[in-house]
Amino acid sequence: MFEQSAALRRVKPSATLAVTQQARELARAGRDVISLGAGEPDFDTPQNVKDAAIRAIQDGKTKYTDVDGIPELKQAIVDKFARENGLTYRTSQVNVSPGGKPVIYNALVATLSPGDEVIVPRPYWVSYPDMVLLAGGEPVFADASAETGFKLTAAALEAAITPRTRWLILNSPSNPSGAAYTRAELRALADVLVRHPHVWVLTDDMYEHLVFDGFEFSTIAQVAPELMDRTLTMNGVSKAYAMTGWRIGYAAGPEPLIKAMAKVMSQTTSNPSSISQWAAVEALNGPQDFIPTNAKLFQDRRDLVVGMLNQASGIECATPEGAFYVYPSIRQVIGKTTENGQVIGSDEDFARELLTAEGVAVVHGEAFGLSPHFRVSYATSTDVLEEACRRIQRFCGGLR
Ligand SMILES: Cc1ncc(COP(=O)(O)O)c(C=O)c1O
Repeated sequence: MFEQSAALRRVKPSATLAVTQQARELARAGRDVISLGAGEPDFDTPQNVKDAAIRAIQDGKTKYTDVDGIPELKQAIVDKFARENGLTYRTSQVNVSPGGKPVIYNALVATLSPGDEVIVPRPYWVSYPDMVLLAGGEPVFADASAETGFKLTAAALEAAITPRTRWLILNSPSNPSGAAYTRAELRALADVLVRHPHVWVLTDDMYEHLVFDGFEFSTIAQVAPELMDRTLTMNGVSKAYAMTGWRIGYAAGPEPLIKAMAKVMSQTTSNPSSISQWAAVEALNGPQDFIPTNAKLFQDRRDLVVGMLNQASGIECATPEGAFYVYPSIRQVIGKTTENGQVIGSDEDFARELLTAEGVAVVHGEAFGLSPHFRVSYATSTDVLEEACRRIQRFCGGLR
């Protein structure tokens, strides 16, 4: 009989991938479905990046590479951190993995022993707790609810730290809430960390370039240089350059950690695709002008979605600083009944009934650890977003 390992039994499959899959299956069965579940930009990889990949293939750059990345890409990453974040790293401090996800997982596998704790602000990106569990650690949740703008406060961080804490995971702008930390907010968290030298910080800056209304992005190593020797600054090309399928993520941090991560890769994945690495070199070194253009596009979509969702009966939607998600509350909807007689007892019920009644796929808040909410990804066209929000308004309007 098939049996999952003890480690895997602690883990649940990704809820966001499950919703996308469910929406795809309904669409295949002929239903008119709008999926607001996917976490990927709807625009194409830039042509200069595609051309670099084609050149790499034609030039025979198709063999194994250094396990944790080619020197040219590591240099492009060092340059990116210097140019955009004012951070000084050497190439020996850089890891390139097959996506942002493996960067985080490799760091956790490389550092966690049984019983070690990782502080995960809640709501969280679905994969953090399960990656911690799979790596043998224990996630410890710290509230970052709507009352504090979905941000971890210094007091909540202080309360979550124990002698077993190894890491704090920060994610700004956040998936699922879109919240981004200001310099002052990061400084307040850093002041707590300074008092606890055994706690390291893994900062996931995947959505760095998607910030709105003139918000200035900051990352903790920049705000608190004294934490540099225990911070892993993680990023990737997936979201900023519309390269989700290419699978390139990267991070920079203390050399012993980077070496340990390479050791994990040497016995598991080996290097990320050589072709994708050359494409990423071009993404980071090539023209960057489309980035602010896209950010403006996403800002307009955010405004549309926030406006329309707040007009839906029972929905309260905050205006986030970045990313391409909103995380509205459905507190006032809980306990109501749909036109089909189904009681909405949870955000999971809400998401299911919305999909059944109106063919709109969203991800329930429980998957991100904070209910009753749901996550909307607005990485899709304005027409589609308007139609989806109209359907959500109709669905909510029909609840009694
Ligand atoms: C916050 C966050 N970090 C990391 C990732 C993973 O990125 P990648 O597709 O490069 O593995 C995602 C993707 O959804 C994300 O939302």
